[in-house]
Amino acid sequence: MINEKLLVKKAFEAQKRSYAPYSNFNVGAALLGTNGKIYEGCNIENAAFTPTNCAERTAFFKAVSEGQKEFSAIAIVGGKNGAKEDEAEYCAPCGVCRQVMMEFCNPKTFKVYLAKTEDDYIEYTLEEILPLGFSGKNLD
Ligand code: THU
Repeated sequence: MINEKLLVKKAFEAQKRSYAPYSNFNVGAALLGTNGKIYEGCNIENAAFTPTNCAERTAFFKAVSEGQKEFSAIAIVGGKNGAKEDEAEYCAPCGVCRQVMMEFCNPKTFKVYLAKTEDDYIEYTLEEILPLGFSGKNLD
């Protein structure tokens, strides 16, 4: 069972730690491992721009670097200056982050929750947001 409400709450907590002095677009992610652990991530920007890391990849790389490589779901929140509740939008993951999800997740079962508030979120599978995804299976 996925406690999606808890996952969304943790994504908002991670968003508070976003380091985004250049875009002021603050993103938080909470990634649920099949071990039951939640790995939080935020976007981390850089004055040279290209080293910037998205919140989703921060969460994945934290988890993988700690030995966890199987996942059930991720919750993502994002908005300019943290975005107040009344002007919040769903923040969809960028293409690079979708590809990182494809590396470690089953596209048919991995759930992606995009949240505006703790009560307002929508659910997708990875396959829905990355149709015809390329993975290691293509190289077998
Ligand atoms: N960003 C994320 O962290 N995740 C997304 O899904 C979209 C974009 C970050 C990257 C950059 O720090 C800022 O948002 C603006 O693109």
